Amino acid sequence: MAASREHFSSRIGFILAAAGSAVGIGNLVGFPVNAAKNGGGAFLILYALFVFLICLPVMIAEMAVGRNTAKEPVGAFKTLSQGNKAWGVAGLLGVLTPFMIAVFYMVITVWIFGYIVLTVTGNLDYLASGAGFGEFINSPYLFVALFAVAGIVSFILAAGVKDGIEKAAKTLMPALFGMLIIMVAFVLTLDNAMAGIEFFLIPDFSKLTPGVINGALSQAFFSLSLGMGILLTYGSYINKQTNIPNSAKLVAITDTSVAFIAGLMILPAVFSFNPNVNPSQLEDSTVDLIFTFLPKIFLALQTSIGYVGASGVATFFFVLVFFAAITSLVSIIEVPVSYLVTEKKQTRKKALGYLTLTAGVLTLFAMVSFGMVDFFSQFTFYAGKDKSFFVVVYDVFYDTILPLNGFLLCMFVSYRWKKKQLSEELSIGNENYRGSWVEKYINFSLSTFIPLIVLLIFINTVATKFF
Ligand code: PHE
Repeated sequence: MAASREHFSSRIGFILAAAGSAVGIGNLVGFPVNAAKNGGGAFLILYALFVFLICLPVMIAEMAVGRNTAKEPVGAFKTLSQGNKAWGVAGLLGVLTPFMIAVFYMVITVWIFGYIVLTVTGNLDYLASGAGFGEFINSPYLFVALFAVAGIVSFILAAGVKDGIEKAAKTLMPALFGMLIIMVAFVLTLDNAMAGIEFFLIPDFSKLTPGVINGALSQAFFSLSLGMGILLTYGSYINKQTNIPNSAKLVAITDTSVAFIAGLMILPAVFSFNPNVNPSQLEDSTVDLIFTFLPKIFLALQTSIGYVGASGVATFFFVLVFFAAITSLVSIIEVPVSYLVTEKKQTRKKALGYLTLTAGVLTLFAMVSFGMVDFFSQFTFYAGKDKSFFVVVYDVFYDTILPLNGFLLCMFVSYRWKKKQLSEELSIGNENYRGSWVEKYINFSLSTFIPLIVLLIFINTVATKFF
């Protein structure tokens, strides 16, 4: 007999868990750099518009489908399409995508864990030296770190929705927020901090090229954890009293605020390190920024606060990022866990066992794809260049399938499940929903321009990446 579905204990527990998923490495590092490079305040305005006009309706729809069916993506698509095979594929993608994205996210989290250990043990100077990172990613010690990270995530998930996911979010999210504020207060005391703030905030509309606009939307989509089945699955754990549009709005506001505040941390630090820095030359990839550039900034602090002080700041920062990464990882692995439990009738522990094992092995493949094992380092089947397994997973699932999933969800909700049912679900726990402009906007946007825009992003990515 199927046990009854577990629920979050409160609305705030749900909001914190969803925000825990949304707030991740993308917010803390990806967003600030993206914004500074691409028009500062102009980018911020554009990003905020995307979050509220395009991403929020998708988030609301995901949560509504989840709550209505009390299932994960496969079960939800199956139930609402009455077993239609074609829509079943969308459900499968909704479980496969988070599983694969978890693989590359896990690699980065493992590195962060490694950086915490190395800064605590006095190796900041090694990390800051140009050669450090290249050597680090090929270090066999990372396999130990993989065990540690997988262990922490499984430990949280094994305790279930209320005592695991929700409790972790309730502990880690306030800690993360407090630490972020402390970091901002600290970097603002550094020389030239204000130059960084100016660069982050002063708008330069001339930078908003089509590529930047596309990038801003993708960033917002990823940052809010959309298209990964996460909010659908979390939505299946909320009760009927919860006001979905309001809760989703709070999640989006939290996520966007953290991204914004992270900008107040990263850019002053960058400018205090080098007041003449030209942000448009900043590292393109979040990975380079976190793992090679930031250690240099931390090390430079030793002239004012000594080596131990500088190492302490570095550790503090990596722990902050680690907390953000753990709550995101937990959310993304919960999707396949929930699939195995709901659809395949496995116990939670068994499901976790299978997933930790398979995701662990794939993560290993990704970890050795930076040179250790040739087969995974030259894993190309498109665009003719040698790419690592890590990059392939990123290109295929994050860059390509994610917007496709967004498109499928919009089409499914609007044309298969239908707006009437969506409205009905959203008006539960929300008496004023019917007839409101919010309802009109959601129904209109989800069935027209939102799927069109994400479809265009998908086509554009396929055309540029794979051909
Ligand atoms: N929202 C996360 C971020 O900004 C992305 C993410 C969520 C990644 C869940 C993995 C799992 O970093």
